Amino acid sequence: MDIILRSLRLERGKTIKVIAINGSPRKKWNTATLLEKALEGAVSEGAETEMIHLYNLNFKGCISCFACKLKDGKSYGKCAMKDELTPVLEKLRDTDAVILGSPIYLGNCTGEMRSFMERYIFPYLVYSAKPQTLFPKNIPIGYIYTMNIKEDLFEAFGLRKVIELNEGLATRIFGYSESMYSTDTYQFDDYSKYVADKYDPAEKAKKREEVFPQDCEKAFEMGARFVKRQKALEVQNQSGKI
Ligand SMILES: Cc1cc2nc3c(=O)[nH]c(=O)nc-3n(C[C@H](O)[C@H](O)[C@H](O)COP(=O)(O)O)c2cc1C
Repeated sequence: MDIILRSLRLERGKTIKVIAINGSPRKKWNTATLLEKALEGAVSEGAETEMIHLYNLNFKGCISCFACKLKDGKSYGKCAMKDELTPVLEKLRDTDAVILGSPIYLGNCTGEMRSFMERYIFPYLVYSAKPQTLFPKNIPIGYIYTMNIKEDLFEAFGLRKVIELNEGLATRIFGYSESMYSTDTYQFDDYSKYVADKYDPAEKAKKREEVFPQDCEKAFEMGARFVKRQKALEVQNQSGKI
């Protein structure tokens, strides 16, 4: 497979860089917490990390200019739009692992996360008969989703499809992808202040105390696993196996 044969440009002894992208407007809540944990896991394996909050940036989604697909164009394979996302996209070209976190809003990632994905992923996608990618390395992309619903409603809300689609696309473009999700999240600081009689605050609090820490552990492991994967690929690359 061309993904496996793709050359890895990790230089000997280079520190592995992991970037987390927070697609929640809240910078300390469920999604951001899980992303922090994933980065802690990456640090535990010696990585350099950075968190980028999309809601701090002024940017738009793809405007369909197709400069990234123009034959011999100077932006071929790159997003030509210039705004506050541009330096982030440049930085991501040299990153060894990326973890994308988003709450589920109305059955999908947040608008900001989707706009980001259009700009990050679409330029590397080639409209060729045979699947091809313009991304030059093999890196893991992790998805961390948080949501109010419980897993038993995944099918009814079409969420399984959303998760599979994002993971499949990222695998095709970047080489590898995996996803995790945290369901039935704690949404308000104080449930008694809001119209939300559908929920039992005590049950929500129990879930947060008992299950959310397990989700944090899973996120930590994802971060650590990604760094180990990149180190193993580097070793294979240096010994000429890839
Ligand atoms: C505008 C909006 C739409 C939402 N839509 C959904 C939804 O379709 N399904 C769901 O399970 N949760 C939905 N939620 C709940 C959030 O996904 C959930 O609380 C999430 O954990 C919030 O992430 P955060 O704490 O990182 O901000 C929605 C929340 C908001 C604000």
